Amino acid sequence: MANVTVIGAQWGDEGKGKLVDWLSNRADVVVRFQGGHNAGHTLVVGNQTYKLSLLPSGVVQGKLSIIGNGVVVDPWHLLKEIEGIGAQGIKIGPELLVLADNACLILPIHRDLDQAREAAATNKIGTTGRGIGPAYEDKVGRRAIRVADLADREALEAKIDRLLAHHAPLRAGLGLPPVDAAALLAELEDLAPKILAFAQPAWLKLDGIVKSGKRVLFEGAQGALLDVDHGTYPYVTSSNTVAGQAAAGSGLGPKGPGYVLGIVKAYTTRVGEGPFPTELFDEVGQHLGTVGREFGTVTGRSRRCGWFDAALVRQSVALNGISGIALTKLDVLDGLPTLKICTGYRLNGQDIGYLPAGLKAQGQLEPVYEEMEGWSETTQGARSWKDLPASAVKYVRRIEELIGAPVALLSTSPQRDDTILMRDPFHD
Ligand code: IMP
Repeated sequence: MANVTVIGAQWGDEGKGKLVDWLSNRADVVVRFQGGHNAGHTLVVGNQTYKLSLLPSGVVQGKLSIIGNGVVVDPWHLLKEIEGIGAQGIKIGPELLVLADNACLILPIHRDLDQAREAAATNKIGTTGRGIGPAYEDKVGRRAIRVADLADREALEAKIDRLLAHHAPLRAGLGLPPVDAAALLAELEDLAPKILAFAQPAWLKLDGIVKSGKRVLFEGAQGALLDVDHGTYPYVTSSNTVAGQAAAGSGLGPKGPGYVLGIVKAYTTRVGEGPFPTELFDEVGQHLGTVGREFGTVTGRSRRCGWFDAALVRQSVALNGISGIALTKLDVLDGLPTLKICTGYRLNGQDIGYLPAGLKAQGQLEPVYEEMEGWSETTQGARSWKDLPASAVKYVRRIEELIGAPVALLSTSPQRDDTILMRDPFHD
């Protein structure tokens, strides 16, 4: 298959960055298609650690990287990230990075609104506070400022007025000061040439790339259970995170996504609020958090940890059309004498094999567990299937059976080369 789409199959933070970095070696182009700088991708290459939020991971490999129309772009953050990566020795110019000219911008007013709402809410979502939700609201509300608007002063001025007319009462209601339209215009005009240097019709660029037989790697952010339609609504992000969005969020059409690789952590984590049936509050949960270094890349928050939930991932396999999975962080389970896998739930005395849509029902699910023997050996850094203890192999095989998808890759440490390839997504 020519193209591969990488998505998080749980609640995000499955280790997509490393896998995308690893796969981008085999791709010609890497494309982001949703989310914004709420994502956090950590790439460890040799003794260098790169932390990316908005830039596609392909930049680290020097691959053409595209920020598609489905992404919401904070232009100040983008320039800062380009500068930061530049300081680590990777120079990013227009030959390496393409920004869709029809992508919508995240402005400081969006961040203000996101943070003020979270501070005022009794039922917090636990957002990253980066303005993602309010920016998508303005996008679907048809009042957003898009990248191309930066090239047209007149249009920009009118759009700012329209946008601020909408935001002024919201800000006043939250006790935020009014925004100076002239100052915002001046700030945007100041950064416009730097941003416009990367701007292009990304769909057209991609069309040409695909027609010339090149391979595209789509890089998802967050995870399927944070999808605004299919996730644990309202405790979700504000974009579609499922693989189908790779088509709409890049302009490549439904044949574009190709092989869908779901990234799956060998246990479960989530940041922020919302239902989490297999969450652990005991020493096993602490083990997963500590050994797995489960702290948010973007916010530094501790992630909630729990047992592997096969029902949840089975749902994700269906929602995303997953062709195969990459299983990550198996080594975090090293040394645990007994492991549990959630195979389904009990709800009001009935068995249920999926996460129901209702929030109340989601909160009442009792996980049904199957126990497996753990292993005492280390799996960290294993580079071959034969290096794994028999119980670890059994655990992986049982996961495959329960979720109904094969393991294509196994990641055994944050290092790029500690990856076991079972089947090549680009050739499957
Ligand atoms: P927002 O995307 O900042 O609006 O946050 C909405 C929800 O998505 C919150 O629960 C966040 O913790 C979660 N979230 C957003 N981005 C990520 C991510 O990259 N990894 C994991 N969770 C995320």
